[in-house]
Formats: sequence, C-alpha cells, structure tokens
Amino acid sequence: MGVDVLLGLQWGDEGKGKIVDVLTPQYDIIARFQGGPNAGHTLEFEGIKHVLHTIPSGIFRDKVVNVIGNGVVIDPVILQKEIKQLEELNVDVQSKLLISKKAHLILPTHKLLDQASEISKGKQKIGSTLKGIGPTYMDKTGRNGLRIGDIKSPNFHEKYQKLKEKHFNLLKNSNLLKNLESTENEFLESIEYLKKFEHIDSEHYLNNASKNGKNILAEGAQGSLLDIDFGTYPFVTSSNTITAGTCTGLGIAPNKINKVVGIFKAYCTRVGSGPFPSELDNKVGEEIRKLGHEFGATTGRERRCGWIDLPALKYAIMINGVTELSMMKADVLDSFKEIYVCTHYIQQGEQIDYFPFELNENTKPVFMKISGWNQDITKCKKEADFPKELSFYIEYLEKELEVPISIVSVGPNRTETIIR
Ligand code: GDP
Ligand code: IMO
Ligand code: MG
Repeated sequence: MGVDVLLGLQWGDEGKGKIVDVLTPQYDIIARFQGGPNAGHTLEFEGIKHVLHTIPSGIFRDKVVNVIGNGVVIDPVILQKEIKQLEELNVDVQSKLLISKKAHLILPTHKLLDQASEISKGKQKIGSTLKGIGPTYMDKTGRNGLRIGDIKSPNFHEKYQKLKEKHFNLLKNSNLLKNLESTENEFLESIEYLKKFEHIDSEHYLNNASKNGKNILAEGAQGSLLDIDFGTYPFVTSSNTITAGTCTGLGIAPNKINKVVGIFKAYCTRVGSGPFPSELDNKVGEEIRKLGHEFGATTGRERRCGWIDLPALKYAIMINGVTELSMMKADVLDSFKEIYVCTHYIQQGEQIDYFPFELNENTKPVFMKISGWNQDITKCKKEADFPKELSFYIEYLEKELEVPISIVSVGPNRTETIIR
C-alpha cells in the first residue's frame, strides 16, 4: 500500500494540523516522523480549538492509530500534559497512541543547553523555541542520547545520571542550573507516567501495517525551509523536515512513498531569526499578522509576515517531490485590492530565479502585482464559488509551480476546506 506524506513548504505553521485532521478519515494510521514540542499544530472543529505539539493530528478521529516515530524527540512533561488535556476532552489517548522505542528523550538539561546556546549567540541567535530540540538531536548524533525504550530498562537512572553529568559540565559556568531540581522531579514523574503507554518497534509496526493494506499518512513538523540540510542554515531546526525525513524518521523505504502533499500559505510567515526576502516589515505585514492571527502556536511570538515566495516554494517542491499542493489561509488576503508574488531575487546585483546557497539581508525580492479578490471567501463551499481573481491566482501558481493545488483552505475550521 505505501505511505503518503504531508509536510510544510515554507518556514512552518502552514496549517499542517488542520489538513492532517481533514484527511485523517482516509487513513488508518497517522505518524509523526521528526521534530518535537517545537511544533504547534492547530485543529479547529465543533467549537474546539486545540494545539498539538508531539501527538499526531489524527488523534481526534475514531479508529485511527497515531504513531510517534523514531525520528521525533519527546519531552515527557509536555507529552503528559498533552495527553491529559486530550483526556479532558474525552479522547481515549491510551488506545490510540503508540510511541517508538527509538524516539529520543528531551531532558531538562537539554532545555538549559538550548538556552545557553542562544545566550552565547547574542544577536545571532536562532530564535529557538527553547524546547531543547537542538541539544537533544546533538546527543542523538553524538551517540549519547536516551530513548523511550530505555525508560523500562533497569539501568535507566544510571544512564540518565551519566548524561546529566555531561550536561552539568557544559553548564557549570552558567547560572542556569539553579531551578533544575523541580523540573527534574517533574521529568522523572512524567517518565513513570509514560510507562503505561505502548512502546513499539514502529518500523516493524508500520511496514507490517502497510503490507496488510493499511493506509498511512506521515505528518511533517516545521517546514522545508527550516530543514537542517536544505533550509536557511544556520537559522533552521535540527531535523530533516523534508520527505526524506519520513524514511529515516519512520523506517519507511523510499519506494514505499506514494503521494507527497505540500502545504503553503497564500502568503508567507516566519517565526524566529533568519533571512526572509519577501518579508513585509511595514504596515502591510502588520495587517497580515492581525488578519491571519499570526502568533506562534507554541511560543506565542509574533510571526513575521510577507508575500508568497516562488523561488523558495519551487525549491521546496523539488526537494520533497511534491505531487499535490494545499493552499492555506487565502481568506486572510480577502481585504486586499492587490497582492504581490515574489518571482525572483536580486543578489549581488544579479536577478536570479532559484534558491541560492545563502539568502542574506542583501537578497532583495522582485515582486509581481496581481489583482486581489477583495471580497469574503470564507463562505465559499466549492470551487465554482471562488471569485475570478482567486481562480486566477490559483491557476497562476499551478503554472509556475508545475504541481496541482488540490486543496484550498478558506478558514481555520475543518469545514472551511475546498477539495478541487
Ligand atoms: P501548523 O504548525 O502547520 O499545523 O500550523 P499552525 O497551527 O501553527 O498555524 C496555522 C494557523 O492558521 C492556526 O491558527 C490555524 O487554525 C489557522 N488556519 C489554518 N488554515 C487556515 C485558513 O485557511 N484560514 C485561516 N484564516 N486560518 C487558518
Ligand atoms: P510547526 O510544526 C514555525 C523555528 C523556531 C526557530 C527555529 C529553530 O508548528 O510548523 P528549534 O526550537 O527547532 O530549535 O527552533 O525553527 N521553528 C518553527 N517555526 N513552526 C514550527 O513548527 C517550528 N518549529 C521550530 O522559531 O526559528
Ligand atoms: Mg505550528
């Protein structure tokens, strides 16, 4: 049967949670393959607005199994809180959530190391969510990490102490260690709590499920431009957010991947530091932020806003092998008489149409003006209801991006989704 993939093509927060929730009825299993609680995926339906950080966005639907894959990094404290919040909404998490034994654990000291790293970078800081993501992946590749599968092992505490001591050495000259005791107790309690959930060999589970005809959707976190290899390095996250991450983060072979759904906003946002050539650091950007409620779902920070960036989108589509697109938040542009598209960049005096080795503050956007639809599209129920300017925008993007736009989202709710 194989696996479909759904992931973000910009700098995250494209609306992945919403679309995974919309598509879940077509699947038996939803699996997260990378990232951790730096993610915030929002779902809205029947008067509920819910933000998920570690748990896959299929959790609200009945009869769907949700897998946290080996490529994910887990903060037990945050995961426990997430589970409790879902249980308050009468979601039976215990029967629907499986956790890979190979997923790595975020320790309290990983979060302190994240802080220390940001402090030492000063103005050059990444703008990390401070969830300990970078240091945890560093310990994974440094072959020091602790995994979910270690929780039940008799020498877990020994392994934990060893890693903690290593972190203490790194942090000894900082004053960050002072509040560690309470967070450490919370961590150890959550570790106990997580023992009651099913820990699996997710690579075996998923491959067997696929062999037995089950439909699997892999849910990406962050976005392609935050990918550790292909994003705007060093202003990126610490995992492979792209389709290839599905292979390493779930144990799915490349030839098992079917559809790749790439999600993008009708404009563009970024939270944290780093280059953003089509950014609107002005009134228009503020207006988009206000209309789109562009504030981080995890940290509450203001998201930087700008126009859509075609060279970056084309690059993300190429790297991911995107087979269909989902355009989100077109309704946020409803009040604009004209909208703009970044078609090229000017770099070192030269016009380029590709995503270069490095974007920097001297990379300037070349914009093309397009007529806005300038009317409310949130009531549109089918494509035929679209104003002609919106249809033109969609067709223009499809021609430029060479991939069909199969979903257009016109509001945050599950129901505000048009499948073309
Ligand atoms: P994710 O990280 O990719 O899942 O996206 P986030 O949840 O961080 O951010 C997307 C935000 O946009 C959330 O607040 C969603 O509720 C909201 N949203 C999603 N789709 C639409 C849409 O089509 N229109 C509007 N106005 N909001 C949307
Ligand atoms: P979802 O899944 C948007 C950004 C941070 C920072 C950089 C590195 O909701 O789309 P990290 O904490 O990973 O070390 O931060 O990446 N970032 C995100 N931005 N959406 C996310 O996730 C993000 N996860 C990380 O703001 O710039
Ligand atoms: Mg988000």
